Amino acid sequence: MSEERLEHLLKQEIVVQPPEEFIENANVKDYEAEYRKFEKDPENFWSSIAKELFWYERWKKVLEWNYPHARWFVGAKTNITVNALDRHVKNGKRNKVAFFWEDELGNERVVTYGELYRLVNKLANALKKAGIKKGDRVVIYMPLVVEQIAAMLACARIGAIHSVVYAGFSAPALKHRIEDAEAKIIITADVTIRRGRAIPLKRIVDEAIMELSFIKQVVVLRRLEPKVDLIGEKEVDFYEFMNGCSDYCEPEVMDSEDPLFILYTSGSTGKPKGVLHTTGGYMVGTYYSMKTVFDLKDNDVYWCTADPGWITGHSYIVYGPLIAGATQVIAEGAPNYPDFGRWWRLIEKYGVNIFYTAPTAIRMFMKAGEEWPNKYDLSSLRLLGSVGEPINPEAWLWYYRVIGKERCPIIDTWWQTETGTVMITTIDSLPMKPGKAGKPVPGVVADVVDKEGNPVKADKGGFLVVKYPWPSMMRTIWKNPKRYEQYWNTIPNCYTAGDVAVKDEDGYIMILGRADDVINVSGHRIGTMEVESALVSHSAVAEAAVIGIPDPIKGEAIKAFVILKKGYSSSEELVDSLKQHVKAELGAIAVPSKIEFVGKLPKTRSGKIMRRVLKAKELGIDPGDLSTLED
Ligand code: WT7
Repeated sequence: MSEERLEHLLKQEIVVQPPEEFIENANVKDYEAEYRKFEKDPENFWSSIAKELFWYERWKKVLEWNYPHARWFVGAKTNITVNALDRHVKNGKRNKVAFFWEDELGNERVVTYGELYRLVNKLANALKKAGIKKGDRVVIYMPLVVEQIAAMLACARIGAIHSVVYAGFSAPALKHRIEDAEAKIIITADVTIRRGRAIPLKRIVDEAIMELSFIKQVVVLRRLEPKVDLIGEKEVDFYEFMNGCSDYCEPEVMDSEDPLFILYTSGSTGKPKGVLHTTGGYMVGTYYSMKTVFDLKDNDVYWCTADPGWITGHSYIVYGPLIAGATQVIAEGAPNYPDFGRWWRLIEKYGVNIFYTAPTAIRMFMKAGEEWPNKYDLSSLRLLGSVGEPINPEAWLWYYRVIGKERCPIIDTWWQTETGTVMITTIDSLPMKPGKAGKPVPGVVADVVDKEGNPVKADKGGFLVVKYPWPSMMRTIWKNPKRYEQYWNTIPNCYTAGDVAVKDEDGYIMILGRADDVINVSGHRIGTMEVESALVSHSAVAEAAVIGIPDPIKGEAIKAFVILKKGYSSSEELVDSLKQHVKAELGAIAVPSKIEFVGKLPKTRSGKIMRRVLKAKELGIDPGDLSTLED
């Protein structure tokens, strides 16, 4: 595509048709027909999908909807690992590759379904032996390695609730999650390797659990030589932990509504909240979307570049793909280390067919130049995906042209930790509009509405909501049921996602961004209050306010406004010290890119910081109604 043509396309509304060949072979050839099938009989729609999976006992009722509480596949019994592992091992896929794993240096590990099955079973037995029972919580703080995925599945095998914490979070952030979940065991590793550097994870765990006496055991995957020391009775080597354990563990019979995992995510309050997902509905939802949204076929090689520390990894590395029996690529470390060719080399090497990544990565590669992907053969690709934040049309078109060679449809998938699975995108047969995510996935009733819940006119902004329960929806917020209800009580009869959006005349939804005090940095949710609390815990800071500002690569970056305590004055060193402090409190992703020292912050008469006033000033836009401003 020439520069001129690109510019022309950007000015008008672009509609890109998926290739004929793609539609002909797609799992869903006719989106509208599939959606109508759902609308005609939602319960029958979901039950016919659920019937493709294994259950010890079928449901008595598909859905019990007691607003805002849903129960899916009521009374049914299953175990998600039987669907993700046993089913394949017993049906001719024992030696099918589940994962091609690589590190930054190109060291490989190939794991078949049979091998993964044995590892999960052994680890499940070890957890049992250590006293872990159904309903107990296990925190997993590990790099992207096969053992991380096995740890999640081992928990699910015995009915323990896993809570994976992304290995980029700092000790205090990890501590909060362990405490809130009241985990009995932590599974971790000595290090993760990123940009050629070993980042010590075990040390972060040590710091996090120093004061937590309820931790019974710390299981450590020791990767480096010489092996890190294990201290005291609580610490045990990952493989020694499994010594003597049988490689078959009878799966725990789980009720459809038994909890599967807790995953913490940031909101507009100070502390992250534990989103709880349950077994049956999540299993059916991830399986369905894997086959429809990602158009997964038996022979596909699929690569999702997320980490299981986020919901994307839970649903689209661990559960969805394994339940659907996929062969996957996973890669620990940075996308551009040792060079910008790493990802494209992997696509060539493994013949990746379906590739799922985030706009922030695409923009980074755009900046590095197309000579990098152009060095490699990307002709195996047939479907591209995007997730985590709005994808700007420029990045969309680059992804389409340079990576997909104008042959591969792009699915821009909108969803959330809370929704569990993809909610809005362009499924297979649907034309694409760069910058617009698309239409609700069959099974999802999404809309753009005003505060009262009335649909807004085409091309007018409003709140993105969901109006009908779906199987993979979160069931509650761990230890905070009121907070769960708020999602459904903000706008009448709607689940409020927290995003603002517009819908066009064709029903395509474009997500504009968060409506609340959440910043989306490189597709990761950061709560403004979390960063503010971290800042004010620094000895020099009296008050702080944090906003998101546009960033060409990250989508949004964090800007902090800081009032210093008496006796402190602004300096480069202080800026560095504040950044270091936020990194230590929360993790690298929450560090502000800009810090400005101010004498005063705009507040309401009741003392609440008016972040939108700061933002309007920063961006030179209209701040809106200022009648509540203090002065
Ligand atoms: C928030 C959810 C779901 C996996 C990763 C993020 C934003 C997510 C898109 C998209 C525009 C998107 C929303 C949403 N978001 N996908 N395709 N287009 N925005 O999960 O951390 O729970 O964040 O990410 O603002 O509310 P999460």
